Amino acid sequence: MSTPSTPAQAWSGRFSEPVSERVKRYTASIPFDWRLAPFDIQGSLAHAAMLQKVGVLSVEDLADIRRGLGEILADFEAGNFVWNLDDEDIHFNIERALTRKVGDAGKRLHTGRSRNDQVATDVRLWLRDAIDRILALLRAAQVALLDLAERHSDTVMPGFTHLQAAQPVTFGHHMMAWFEMLGRDHERLVDCRRRVNRLPLGAAALAGTSYPIDREFVARELGFEGICENSLDAVSDRDFAIEFLAAGALIMTHLSRMSEEMVIWMTPRFGFIDLPDRFCTGSSIMPQKKNPDVPELMRGKTGRMNGHLIALLTLMKGQPLAYNKDNQEDKEPLFDAADTLIDSLAIYAEMVPGIQVRADRMRQAAIEGFATATDLADYLVKKGLPFREAHEVVARAVRTAEQKGCDLADLPLAELQAFSPLVSDDVYQVLTLEGSLAQRTHLGGTAPVAVRAAVERARKRLG
Ligand code: ARG
Repeated sequence: MSTPSTPAQAWSGRFSEPVSERVKRYTASIPFDWRLAPFDIQGSLAHAAMLQKVGVLSVEDLADIRRGLGEILADFEAGNFVWNLDDEDIHFNIERALTRKVGDAGKRLHTGRSRNDQVATDVRLWLRDAIDRILALLRAAQVALLDLAERHSDTVMPGFTHLQAAQPVTFGHHMMAWFEMLGRDHERLVDCRRRVNRLPLGAAALAGTSYPIDREFVARELGFEGICENSLDAVSDRDFAIEFLAAGALIMTHLSRMSEEMVIWMTPRFGFIDLPDRFCTGSSIMPQKKNPDVPELMRGKTGRMNGHLIALLTLMKGQPLAYNKDNQEDKEPLFDAADTLIDSLAIYAEMVPGIQVRADRMRQAAIEGFATATDLADYLVKKGLPFREAHEVVARAVRTAEQKGCDLADLPLAELQAFSPLVSDDVYQVLTLEGSLAQRTHLGGTAPVAVRAAVERARKRLG
C-alpha cells in the first residue's frame, strides 16, 4: 500500500499555506507536553492492541507498532529523542517518529481515535502517576510527624489562640494536629484519584467512532477503574484536574500554616525550635542571622498553587462542548502543581525529623503566659463556684502573680485562699503545667497518655 509523501503538518492537506512561524510557536505544546511521552506511548500500545483484537489492525502491524514505540520510549528515557516544533505536540512527534521507524503501520495507529481523546487519556495517566507519588510522600511526612509526636508526647508548650499563650499543650499533641491535616489531604487525593482513573479513549474527536472498538479492553490494559460514559464529556472536561489542584492547594495551605509556625518558633524571641543548618541560610550582611528559608519558601509556593487552581477554573468556565484548544493550557499549571507538591512534601518529610525542640524555652513560655489560669477556674467550678465568678477570681489571681513576677503555681496557699475560700492544698495539682495536661486524657486530648494513644491508633491506621 503506497502513501503520499508526509506533509508538513498532519492536517495540512486542506490548507493553502503553512502556518506562520509565530503561530507555530504560539500553538505548539511540545515545549511542555513532551513530559507526557511515556504515557502517550502506554496509551498507544493499549489502543493498538485493541485495534488488532477487534480485527482493525493486522498482527504484523501491531508487532511493528510495538517495536517502534518500544524504541521511541527507550530513546526518550535515554534523553536521545529529538523533539520537533514543526510537529506541534507530543502526539504528532511520536506518531511521526513511529512512522519513520516502521512505515505504514505507524500511519494506521491513529485509526479510531483523535488527539482529543488521546490527550485526555495521557493527562489522566500522567496525573494518576503523579498522585501516587504525592500520596506516598504524604505518608512519609505523616510518619515523620508520628515519630516526632511520640518523642515529645510529654514536652510542654503553650497552646495559642490569637497567637497569645492560652493553655498548656504537649508538643506531641501539636504535631498530631499537623498529622491530622495531612491525613485528610491524603483522603482527598485518594478520592480524587478515583475520578482521574477513568478512560476517555474511544470518544475519538467528540462523537465516538465507527470502528468496533472495545473500550473495556483498553481500560483494563491501562489499569483504569472506569470508563468515561459520554464521548462529548470525555474529551472536554478537565474537572478531574481541577479537583487535583483544589486538593493540592489544600495540601500547600497546610504546609504553609506549618511553615509559618516553624518560622515563628525559630525567631530568637520564641526560640521553641531550631532547624538544622542545611534548611537555613545566612544573611550576606548581618552575620548573626540564620534564616528559615525552606519553610518561608514553602509558605510562598502556596501562592503559585492557588494561582494554578484559579487558572484551570477560569480555563474551563467558558468552554462550550466539546474539545477546545483552550484545554492545551491545562498542562503547565498541572505539571508545575505536581512538581511543587512533590518537591515541597519531599523536603518537608526530610525536615520534620530534623526539628530540634527546645523544651526549656517552651516550658518557660507556658509559665510566663499563665497557661494554667483556665485550670484554676475549672477547679473552682468543680468546688461549686459558678464559672463566671470563677473567671473573675482567677483574673485577680493572675494580676497578682503578674505584679509579683511569678507563676500562679508559685503563689502560696494562703494567698490563693484569699481570692477564694474554696481553694485547698489540692489546687497545686491543677496549677502546674503537668497537672493541667494530665487531666485531659479524653480522646483528642493533649495529656501525654492521650497523645501516645493517638500515635498508636494512627500507626495502626497507616498499617
Ligand atoms: N496539544 C493538544 C492539547 O493539549 C492536543 C489535542 C489537540 N487537538 C486538537 N484538535 N487540536 O490539548
